[in-house]
Amino acid sequence: MEGEPFSWERVHPTFTWYRTGKVNMTYECVDRHVLNGNGEKTALQYFSETDNFSFTYKELQQEVNRWSHVLAASGVKKGDFVFVFLPKHPYCYIAMLAAIKVGAVVGPLFEAFMEEAVRDRINDCEGEFLITDSSFLSRVHREQIPSLKKIFTTDNEAGEADLSITAEAEKVDDEFDAVWVELDDGLNIHYTSGSTGKPKGIIHAHRNMVQQYQTGRWVLDLKEDDVYWCTAHPGWVTGTVYGVFAPLLNGVTTVIHGGRFSAEAWYQVLEQAAVTVWYSAPTAFRMLKAAGDKTIKKYDLSSLRHILSVGEPLNPEVIHWGVNALNLRIHDTWWMTETGAQLVANLPTRPIKPGSMGRPIPGIEVAVLNEEGEELPPEETGHLAIRSSWPAIMKEVWKNEQKYQSYFPYGKEWYIAGDLAYLDEDGYVFFQGRSDDMINSSGERIGPFEVESKLLEHPAVKEAGVIGKPDPVRGEIVKAFIALNSTYQESKDLIEEIRLFVRGRLAAHSAPREIEVIQELPKTQISGKVLRRELKKAEINQAG
Ligand code: WTA
Repeated sequence: MEGEPFSWERVHPTFTWYRTGKVNMTYECVDRHVLNGNGEKTALQYFSETDNFSFTYKELQQEVNRWSHVLAASGVKKGDFVFVFLPKHPYCYIAMLAAIKVGAVVGPLFEAFMEEAVRDRINDCEGEFLITDSSFLSRVHREQIPSLKKIFTTDNEAGEADLSITAEAEKVDDEFDAVWVELDDGLNIHYTSGSTGKPKGIIHAHRNMVQQYQTGRWVLDLKEDDVYWCTAHPGWVTGTVYGVFAPLLNGVTTVIHGGRFSAEAWYQVLEQAAVTVWYSAPTAFRMLKAAGDKTIKKYDLSSLRHILSVGEPLNPEVIHWGVNALNLRIHDTWWMTETGAQLVANLPTRPIKPGSMGRPIPGIEVAVLNEEGEELPPEETGHLAIRSSWPAIMKEVWKNEQKYQSYFPYGKEWYIAGDLAYLDEDGYVFFQGRSDDMINSSGERIGPFEVESKLLEHPAVKEAGVIGKPDPVRGEIVKAFIALNSTYQESKDLIEEIRLFVRGRLAAHSAPREIEVIQELPKTQISGKVLRRELKKAEINQAG
């Protein structure tokens, strides 16, 4: 095979299903390693302010098996939706792996979601089951989610919920045979935003493991003895694919940090766990940079050997900070919820061009297209396109075939990302922005429509337009322009009330950091749609 061009089929023999025909992601992530004699190796290593404990692969297998028994006995079947609404904690990982082991489609929810964000997502796909912590139950309004058959808590008491999964798990056997599925059966659902409409449910399949394992090797450069830390919560696709699947498929030790960001806490995790490979995001790196050299010098970070970034543009100055402060280059990677795995990246052995996201990985072909769908030569900016298909591409957009088709406006050959970019002569991809109004704040994808809709539910708000305002640390912040109903007077208190109204219903990261009251919003003449582009132009001119 040496010298032949790479094909994804070459990865298949890694997996058990290649020999047995029996497929299940959890089996490949956990059981395979135990059967291969690696049961004593640490799978999960948890750190928080108060706790520090770990699970070996064998212990993880046993715990997942117990939870799987409880789920199966409670009626969870192949193809059911099991939502997981938990903090960054081993229970979140175990819940996901157990749901997958019984053949369900797992829907990890971001821990900061408020009641309406939780409700709308579960309602959209009529989710049947939810695993959560009792302290999160006040954000789950069961009477508004009629499809929910059972709620499990991960405390030892069920409280308002139906069942304590941790208490029940103690009573059952620690062996459980995975429910076998097809490679193309549903694995996980993540809701993600575009510029129009509510967040869409992107469904991925078990076949994704081929690319998730292989990018774990090539891009994350995972090797047997690595201690790996992905800082993302599984509610964001990075936290699922590169926090749970890719590292476990590669059989390494995965670090989980519970708690909020602080430079000290993060450096402490890097030091204590002796992290070797670290995957995070530009906003976090910028905040660490802002915390200063004095802070970083207090810690021994010499175990680190490979750093990666994803989610938003990685500024060259952040790469320079990495080289100065850590003596390591930060490797940018590019992908999307819909693509299921990394497609463009800076491989560890290749030269990095600061400002570029890297090159397409082997097996992936990238082009830049003009409005007519024709390929543009190097240095010309247009639509970033990926030649379809690849192993981890989404299976479907839940109940929205039209939306799925919208990623292929020029035919099946090219998947259109919605990003603007150019290629240089060496095939490096340079991100230039989004082609739509989607907002990217600290790497979170925020759909302006969802925020505008929420603003309009406040009685004082007559019209609303939401944009991303450039920000030195967060990349962009959410800024809302609103017009008030005539019976309301603009005041600081009212603005704060409106901000909290959104924050309390969606999530902190979706709430506008800035709200500006204007008389009237610019609109298209024919359809009366709010012209976000005009708002953005005015905002940028004002700042510049
Ligand atoms: C943006 C995150 C610049 C991009 C895995 C993409 C990036 C969207 C980068 C997907 C990068 C992702 N540089 N921008 N390296 N990586 N993006 O679905 O606009 O949350 O379309 O997936 O984030 O966001 P999502």
